[in-house]
Amino acid sequence: MSDMSAQVGIVGAGPAGLLLSHLLHRQGIGSVVLEIRSRSYLEQRVRAGVLEQGTVDLLNDCGLGVRMRREGLIHHGVELRFSGRSHRIDFGELTGGRGITVYGQQEVVKDLLRAREAAGSLPRFEVADVSVADLTTERPVIRFTHGGADHELRCDVIAGCDGFHGICRPSVPDGALTEFDRTYPFGWLGILAEVAPSTDELIYARHERGFALHSMRSPTLSRFYLQCEPDADPADWPDERIWDELRVRLDLDLAEGPIVDKGVTPMRSYVVEPMQYGRLYLAGDAAHIVPPTGAKGLNLAVADVRVLATALGRFFTAGDDAGLRAYSETCLRRVWRAEHFSWWMTSMLHRFPDDQGFEQKLQLSQLEYVTSSAAAAASLAENYVGLP
Ligand code: APR
Ligand code: PHB
Repeated sequence: MSDMSAQVGIVGAGPAGLLLSHLLHRQGIGSVVLEIRSRSYLEQRVRAGVLEQGTVDLLNDCGLGVRMRREGLIHHGVELRFSGRSHRIDFGELTGGRGITVYGQQEVVKDLLRAREAAGSLPRFEVADVSVADLTTERPVIRFTHGGADHELRCDVIAGCDGFHGICRPSVPDGALTEFDRTYPFGWLGILAEVAPSTDELIYARHERGFALHSMRSPTLSRFYLQCEPDADPADWPDERIWDELRVRLDLDLAEGPIVDKGVTPMRSYVVEPMQYGRLYLAGDAAHIVPPTGAKGLNLAVADVRVLATALGRFFTAGDDAGLRAYSETCLRRVWRAEHFSWWMTSMLHRFPDDQGFEQKLQLSQLEYVTSSAAAAASLAENYVGLP
């Protein structure tokens, strides 16, 4: 058994855990990050890729923006396609010049890991048997094994940044947290293809055969999604079937290229309240998930961590715990707005298997409305680019 200590023990080295560690470091607060996966796994894992202006501003302000400014693609609108029509939602015009930056989550993770490395404070990768205890005391503990040895990390505060399937949230005693949950009767098949995007901006398409999305990562790398069965096996989706389906649903003359990544994501909305128990604070996917239709997951994780880092700064430098006491309530206001927006975008654009036609009529009416009313379009736009 080997003992260590840190002011903040962080479970999980996704965007939430890494960014928290970085923001704490900048305030002179020490943290140790524990991660079950390897560094190369984290850097290769393909995830979402849309950054709100507020996320971009934060990354720039804390010194993480150099490559993002060079390689990120700034967009001032998205396209909605339905009933053989295409309509652009103009973010610039509707939100006073705001936009989004298309930059892959795994690139954000790479930039964060490089910054942690430069600070001499990389996570401990490939740890196992992680557990947390003594959460309602002033010295909670994280236990784990690494390289075959048992370790114990004593901290003042634990940040549960271990994603939706992590161990922090389930370590809270029954009854202390309330869960709110919705699963959707479909998933997304996501692919990455080595081909120039066939569009300048993202295309969200509603089609009788199901939803499709054309996104991108760079001038030579395209990202696509297709609504599929929630338990679809990527093996049932040979490349040809994917291109055929994309072409039909997007109603687009698509350029094809080698598919270099293929995976299925289930669709779910989930929130736990409060996002805290004793000295354990949950952030990012550990506390809430959204269906990816609104592109909010990463942005919510960043917003949580910004609130938590500020609160911890006050706590460690001035002994003031007001920010920590308000943490959950502060975050949940933004979380529920994003939950609603993501559910709404999902409901408007997907085919629901049991629908007898009523939902489809509502979807089309809603799409007509957001593409003809400036007020409705502005509501979509301000949520998409991110509320202040
Ligand atoms: N111990 C340590 N680490 C763990 C454990 C554990 N028991 N369980 C999971 N982890 C790690 C995972 O391997 C992962 O690297 O925690 C990390 C959680 O990272 P993410 O799942 O990326 O979650 P988060 O940092 O909150 O970022 C949210 O990720 O899922 C996307 O769309 C989501 O963009 C959003 C973002
Ligand atoms: C992506 O590029 O991965 C992406 C874009 C928009 C979404 C979801 C994912 O709504």
